[in-house]
Amino acid sequence: MKQFSLILLSSLLIAGCSNLDRSRDLANQNVRPEVTARQLCSDCHGVDGNSVSPNFPKLAGQQEEYLVKQLQSFRHGDRASEQSYQYMWGMTATLTDEQIKGLAHYYNQHVIKLSLSKETDRILLAKGKEIFENGIPAKQSPACKLCHGAVGEGMATIPRIAGQHAAYLVRQLVIFQENAGRPGTPMESVTHGLSAAEMDSVASYLQALGV
Ligand code: HEC
Ligand code: HEC
Repeated sequence: MKQFSLILLSSLLIAGCSNLDRSRDLANQNVRPEVTARQLCSDCHGVDGNSVSPNFPKLAGQQEEYLVKQLQSFRHGDRASEQSYQYMWGMTATLTDEQIKGLAHYYNQHVIKLSLSKETDRILLAKGKEIFENGIPAKQSPACKLCHGAVGEGMATIPRIAGQHAAYLVRQLVIFQENAGRPGTPMESVTHGLSAAEMDSVASYLQALGV
């Protein structure tokens, strides 16, 4: 009898563990962050944070503090662009600060992979590099590298932008410029005078920038 209940107990434990290892339940805090990342967030952001579709930002190699800040800001409803509330408000509604820290750590540990780019327009890329390195003095637009780092790697709550999908970068630049859901950051004045063509060129340059 004793032996039987031991067997029963251990099989229950195994079943319990494998449930926690294969769970998409965001509200269960016993599910480890890496399991949540692999089983759920991966639908859009890729298993290792290297999303394939440019609709979804790459999270691999992103600054840990930046990720924490963004996840908290989705959760509070502060980051309120259309795609944010469509996709990320529900995802973050029940997350605790501990879960958020774990998820941020998971993605920070992975290495960002460059997407193959069909971009061969050297003039476009050269214009983008110029904006990244020197800004646009005539428009009082500062150089991106002043804040985002010499190779676009970011620091603390300033995001890595090197290697990110160009279409996602452009979408965020427009959101900052139109003050459409990410208020209170220096990016509103940075983007103030940028034309669509300038946004395009700097984003194309950044997508191809490896670190
Ligand atoms: C159904 C698709 C989908 C799922 C699942 C999803 N996301 Fe997202 N996520 C998005 C989209 C779309 C955006 C971009 C929102 C925007 O444009 O503001 C985003 C943005 C983010 C950002 C901001 C990145 C940046 O560079 O600012 C983080 C961090 C993030 N998601 C983390 C997660 C985590 C962690 C999970 C799992 C708990 C998750 N996402 C699940 C679609 C998704
Ligand atoms: C004065 C400092 C500063 C300068 C200069 C600057 N940025 Fe930023 N940028 C930031 C900060 C801070 C954030 C994070 C905003 C937030 O917390 O939502 C950011 C966010 C971004 C994002 C959002 C990334 C994401 O994953 O969602 C993009 C894209 C971006 N910057 C591009 C640029 C480009 C391109 C330039 C140059 C034209 C530039 N930045 C210049 C400080 C700066």
